[in-house]
Amino acid sequence: MERHIALELARITEAAALDAACWTGRGDKHSADEAATVAIRSLISSVDMDGTVVIGEGEMDEAPMLYIGEKVGNRRGPKVDIAVDPLEGTETVANGLNNAISVIAAAPQGHLLHAPDIYMAKLAVGPALAGRLSLDDPIEITLAQASDILSKPLSEMTVSILDRERHRDMISALRQAGVRIKLLSHGDVMGAIEAAVESEVDLYVGSGGAPEGVLAAAALRCLGGEMQGRLLPGNPEEAERCRRMGLSDPQQLLGMDEMVGRGSVLFVATGVTSGDLLSGVRYLPNNTAETHSVIMHSLNRTVSYLRTIHHLAGAADHITEAAI
Ligand code: FBP
Repeated sequence: MERHIALELARITEAAALDAACWTGRGDKHSADEAATVAIRSLISSVDMDGTVVIGEGEMDEAPMLYIGEKVGNRRGPKVDIAVDPLEGTETVANGLNNAISVIAAAPQGHLLHAPDIYMAKLAVGPALAGRLSLDDPIEITLAQASDILSKPLSEMTVSILDRERHRDMISALRQAGVRIKLLSHGDVMGAIEAAVESEVDLYVGSGGAPEGVLAAAALRCLGGEMQGRLLPGNPEEAERCRRMGLSDPQQLLGMDEMVGRGSVLFVATGVTSGDLLSGVRYLPNNTAETHSVIMHSLNRTVSYLRTIHHLAGAADHITEAAI
């Protein structure tokens, strides 16, 4: 995929982050999400691509914008699948907490898994552990194998997991094993990515949203890490939704190829509120604001960080101050 598409998509997640950040701490997750969605929808039609939303704001009848199957882009570029979460961490923004992002992933048409909005069991790791562990193993075995491969005692390993009641047994097992635990309140796209960048996190485990799983898998492909997933349909209706989306066996083990294909993948994200990897929107004097984004390409495994100063008076009037 063209490099300039990545920059265009980053411009769009920046706009979404700026609009969503206005809602920080205001207790209204719907308005925050809507602001980000409207920003993306209004800009994405100008991008040189023939895109189809495969992961977005929902099915056509439940989402007015960025619904699954919606055509996006100006049709002048490559045919691509788009996975978009205008605001990953709606509660986070509503409550003024850390780690909310606006995120888009792109891959050649037909490559991104059409994941329904249900839970997915996940295991995410960095390059050193990629291809070496299995989501099917009990967590104790996985930890022992990871400790062996990384030559790190369990007491020096960190495992990240969403802080949820459904994870009570897994968290107990992690505590029993003696690893450090990073409990996330929300935001498992960044949670999974942290396992594959330089950070204290060695593994991300537990269940979260399936669409977020595919977005994280796109980033992990660019980082040389790995995501394994298994959809967790909670009832026959959810299982039927999986089948309608093309998964004949809703509970099959999903590897990187099933989630993001084997072609090139692109991942862009902009911080809305600050997290460990990206700073959030910072409002500055003179009606300006600063955003931080990350742009990843799988082809050359490049990871670029973009710091942009925006003049808030005109959305299009922004200056990219530093692109590394
Ligand atoms: P939203 O942006 O839709 O609020 O999702 C935030 C999130 O924390 C995701 O990162 C995660 O995959 C999912 O919610 C987990 O869902 P739940 O809060 O039901 O455990």
